[in-house]
Amino acid sequence: MNKMKGVPIFLSLVVLGLASSIASASDPSPLQDFCVAVKDSEIESALFVNGKFCKNPKDVTANDFFFQGLDKPRDTSNPLGSNVTQLNVDKIAGLNTLGISLARIDYAPHGLNPPHIHPRGTEILVVIEGTLEVGFVTSNQDENRLFSKVLNKGDVFVFPVGLIHFQFNRGYTNAVAFAGLSSQNAGVITIANAVFDSDPRINPDVLTKAFQVDKNVIENLQKQFWVDNNN
Ligand SMILES: *[C@@H]1O[C@H](CO)[C@@H](O)[C@H](O)[C@H]1NC(C)=O
Repeated sequence: MNKMKGVPIFLSLVVLGLASSIASASDPSPLQDFCVAVKDSEIESALFVNGKFCKNPKDVTANDFFFQGLDKPRDTSNPLGSNVTQLNVDKIAGLNTLGISLARIDYAPHGLNPPHIHPRGTEILVVIEGTLEVGFVTSNQDENRLFSKVLNKGDVFVFPVGLIHFQFNRGYTNAVAFAGLSSQNAGVITIANAVFDSDPRINPDVLTKAFQVDKNVIENLQKQFWVDNNN
C-alpha cells in the first residue's frame, strides 16, 4: 500500500522537475549582435539595452507602426542582381520587442540572394512574381543536407533560424518575394562577405587551410569587391 502511494508522488515530482527545467531552459533571446554588460558605476554612459529604449506610450502614433512604398521595385543593377529591403525595427520603430519583421526581395533575371544566415530569425518566404530556386543546408550533425525547391508564384518556403540559405532567380524575367522573419532584427551574415571581406581581413593562411586551396585563390577572393545586397 505504502509503495503504491509513493509512486504517484514520485511521478508528480518528476513531472514537476521536467516542467520547471523546460520553463527555465534558456536565456531570453538577444535582440542585437551583442549586449555588453556595463558596471553599475558606468550606468550613466550606458546607451544600449537588449533592443531599444521605449518611447513614452502617450507619444506613440499610428505612424510608429507604418511604412509606405513596399510595392515599389528596387534597383537590382549590382553584381548579384538582387536587392533586399528589410523592414525591421530600424525602419518601423513599433516592431520593438514584438519578435517579427518583413522584407521585400527583388531579383533581376538570374539574380541571386547569395548564401547567408539570419542569426536571430526563422524566415518564411512567398514568391509574388517569377521563379526562384531556393535552399537551405542543415548543420554538420545533420550531415549538411541540402533542402532545395524551385518556387513559382504563390509558392512558400521556410528557412529555419541560423541555417545557410539562398534564393536564385532561374527565370528570364524579374522575380519578387516577400519574407516574414521571427525577429524585430533578424540580422544578416552573408557568407562570402563575412569570410573574404572582413575588416580587418582574416589571415589568408587560415582560409587557405580551411578551404584546402592555393593561397593565391584566397588572396584573389580577398581582393574582390563583395557587394552587400541588404538595405
Ligand atoms: C536597392 O534599391 C534601392 C532603391 O531602388 C537603392 O537605393 C539601393 O542602392 C539598392 N541597393 C543595392 C545594394 O543595390
